[in-house]
Amino acid sequence: MDLNLKNKNALVCGSSQGMGKAIAIQLAEMGANVTLFARNLEVLNRVKAELANDGTQEHFAICADFSDPAAVGRAMDEQLSIVKEYHILINNTGGPAPGPANTAASEAFLAAFNQHLINNHQLAQKLIPGMKNAGFGRIINVISTSVKQPLPNLGVSNTVRGAVASWAKTMANELGQFGISVNNVLPGATNTVRLDAIIKNKAAKKGVSIEAMAEEEKSIIPMRRFGEAEEFANVVAFLASPAAAYVTGVSIPVDGGRTSCL
Ligand SMILES: NC(=O)c1ccc[n+]([C@@H]2O[C@H](COP(=O)([O-])OP(=O)(O)OC[C@H]3O[C@@H](n4cnc5c(N)ncnc54)[C@H](OP(=O)(O)O)[C@@H]3O)[C@@H](O)[C@H]2O)c1
Repeated sequence: MDLNLKNKNALVCGSSQGMGKAIAIQLAEMGANVTLFARNLEVLNRVKAELANDGTQEHFAICADFSDPAAVGRAMDEQLSIVKEYHILINNTGGPAPGPANTAASEAFLAAFNQHLINNHQLAQKLIPGMKNAGFGRIINVISTSVKQPLPNLGVSNTVRGAVASWAKTMANELGQFGISVNNVLPGATNTVRLDAIIKNKAAKKGVSIEAMAEEEKSIIPMRRFGEAEEFANVVAFLASPAAAYVTGVSIPVDGGRTSCL
């Protein structure tokens, strides 16, 4: 099985911590040249120093706020003047704030739509010409299991995540003929700062301790535990590899079995 990413250039968004960081570490381990992308250059440079390097790999760190599409476009254009062609795009960013859909402000939907869908789309459009030229492309979106089963109290997130999944399936249909796959990987409850915040919020709402809330969450997962960012990154890394060439247009939950639909 060919898992080698040598001479492949990967752009990994939201890679300063959590699942994005774990993905960057794994792709570098497999030989890719990795460009880290988030908001804080100092943190990204620390992550860059952790990435595997066989002496021929070249890693980069670039910055912009994904809620500002113009700034993201400028940062990406600048990077494309250094690395001309990318083969792998990992779309990932912070999740929208929790809360019900029916009371959410229209602005919250618009902001999340910009940060998730428009940002993914803009980056894909900038990288697709290089992928076409190489005859190899992997666009992988980190979304959420909510695209299969909406989650309570994540109204804006559920809505925008669904749009991203639908965008991805459409792009997969259009781009397969160029050797470019587009897939979604859907985290369930995964041990990151984001999960800590969600559990804390739920515990406060229910008036129970954070520990009790975490145990309750685990009890509905067939694996009876939260996932690790590295376990999630393994699935993304496989989809990014040459071995996954015939997989496109799918949404794969990495959730310990929590999603109850088929
Ligand atoms: N963890 C879970 O249990 C879980 C479950 C389902 C879905 N998800 C979703 O999966 C994705 C990754 O989750 P995670 O737990 O790894 O998240 P995380 O630990 O909060 O990391 C998010 C990453 O995105 C970057 N980021 C956030 N906002 C940004 C912005 N406006 N512009 C540029 N970069 C930004 C962050 O870097 P900076 O802040 O330094 O910019 C960070 O690198 C999120 O969308 C999350 O909602 C997570």
